Amino acid sequence: MAVPRQPSWTAPPRFRLALAALVALSLLVLVAQLARDADADRATTLRQAAADRLAQLSHYLPSSSRDSDPLAYRRFLERTAAPPHSGSTAGNSTRAALTDDDDRETERGPLGFSHVYVLSLPSRTDRRRDMRQIAHALDIDIEFVDAANKDEPFIKWIAERVAESRELRRDEMAKARGVPRSRIGGLKIGSDWVTPFPGNVSAWTSSTALPPSFPPFPPYEAAPSLAKGTRKQNWVQHLESLHSAGGRHTSLRPSRADLDVAALLFDKREHLAVRQVHEGIISTFWGQTRALKRVLENGDRTALILEDDVDVEWDVARLWASIERRLPRDAATGEPEWDVAFLGHCWGGEYQKPQYLHPLVHRSTGPMCLHGYAVTSRGARRLLAHLLSPWSAFSSAVDLVIPTLLHVQDQLPAALARAHPHPLASSFSIVPPLVVQRKDGPSDLQTGTGSPWRGVLRDSTVERIKRDDGSWTDDWDDQYVPGRIDPATQIRCGPV
Ligand SMILES: *[C@@H]1O[C@H](CO)[C@@H](O)[C@H](O)[C@H]1NC(C)=O
Ligand SMILES: *[C@@H]1O[C@H](CO)[C@@H](O)[C@H](O)[C@H]1NC(C)=O
Repeated sequence: MAVPRQPSWTAPPRFRLALAALVALSLLVLVAQLARDADADRATTLRQAAADRLAQLSHYLPSSSRDSDPLAYRRFLERTAAPPHSGSTAGNSTRAALTDDDDRETERGPLGFSHVYVLSLPSRTDRRRDMRQIAHALDIDIEFVDAANKDEPFIKWIAERVAESRELRRDEMAKARGVPRSRIGGLKIGSDWVTPFPGNVSAWTSSTALPPSFPPFPPYEAAPSLAKGTRKQNWVQHLESLHSAGGRHTSLRPSRADLDVAALLFDKREHLAVRQVHEGIISTFWGQTRALKRVLENGDRTALILEDDVDVEWDVARLWASIERRLPRDAATGEPEWDVAFLGHCWGGEYQKPQYLHPLVHRSTGPMCLHGYAVTSRGARRLLAHLLSPWSAFSSAVDLVIPTLLHVQDQLPAALARAHPHPLASSFSIVPPLVVQRKDGPSDLQTGTGSPWRGVLRDSTVERIKRDDGSWTDDWDDQYVPGRIDPATQIRCGPV
């Protein structure tokens, strides 16, 4: 025999409205009661605040015109209780009325950066179109930075200067280390061509001063036609002053037009062919330094630098905002006290150092690739000082420089590191990355499409765009192919 079920009682809409009104009334009465005890000014402020808050709340309370919204409370918190710089775009005015967060946020640019730069060859209109579409989808402004074509003659001129500076460097390093000249070389992380110190850092014991750096570099003896007033400049200063003078660096020519750059700069101490320097490596180095110079020229507080073949996490604005607020900043001024943050990286084990105040953030270990990284103005200045030192400029892949600085920094005596934390670079890595290489077309820099793997995103902006325009196909869909797994997600201890 069936027991008749008790029908559950639901409030009719009119009753719910009455209930809401009653709650509102009781709160107002309470506020009024409190106000009577306080002074008149304070009462007015309180009453106004309560009325404002009720006005906000009433929007989310069940009403006769709207059915109860199960997400109302979540939406309310979303609009009112976001942590500072959460990147939440919802209800900014509501939030401004209800919190006393600083208003620096409104002065911020795309994704909270002063600028987002995209490094790209002017001839790659296809890549520029794709990047504009991604920017449109993320609702950000991007600024293209022109990369140099690797076949331009000035790239070969640079290669000749690198060969000369390497010879001087060999002398300095062999002398400082007490080893034969033939022992200097190699292009892995920590490379002799990149380290800022000629001596053996592991043998350095001072707890107060950094090891001695290289001596002043001899001036470049330019051809008289190019050298008006530039006699005191080293070769990089010469190159940069021509670049600043309206792109006159493109007039630089190597001594021989058919110079074989790869042969000239071949390093016998490097056993991996992929690490050897060639025109593409030099032109990428050139491009990245142009982007960093732009950061300083524009007076950016922070900037994001992207290569033109990337895919970006759909929620990047919010994720980055939640990360940036955890990165070190000056307690008094609020200015950032970090140099670089790798939103994208490859080949590294970037989770090897402890998590840093955020589940996705670690201090960098050896982050390779520069397809998506953030810099502060301090970071851009520091990096350029290393990248454009005549002792090391263009002498390796540009993405070897930061991992090498970090590697050398880690070798400094612990007492020195305590007294002067991160004297070369303060770098963070986001794990897993928020920016990955797309790997869907031939690379400008490597033969073929580079390595077979590409990173994976939780929610790919490119996937959304491709699904929208109908070009999403199976080969883009997730398939588990071990050979295509990003090595950054596998355990790799120590420098590669
Ligand atoms: C955010 O603020 C801007 C400028 O104050 C305003 O135009 C816009 O409507 C606000 N957006 C929302 C969702 O309130
Ligand atoms: C550097 O110094 C360390 C510690 O003194 C020593 O073990 C190492 O062999 C040195 N390396 C070179 C290349 O001289």
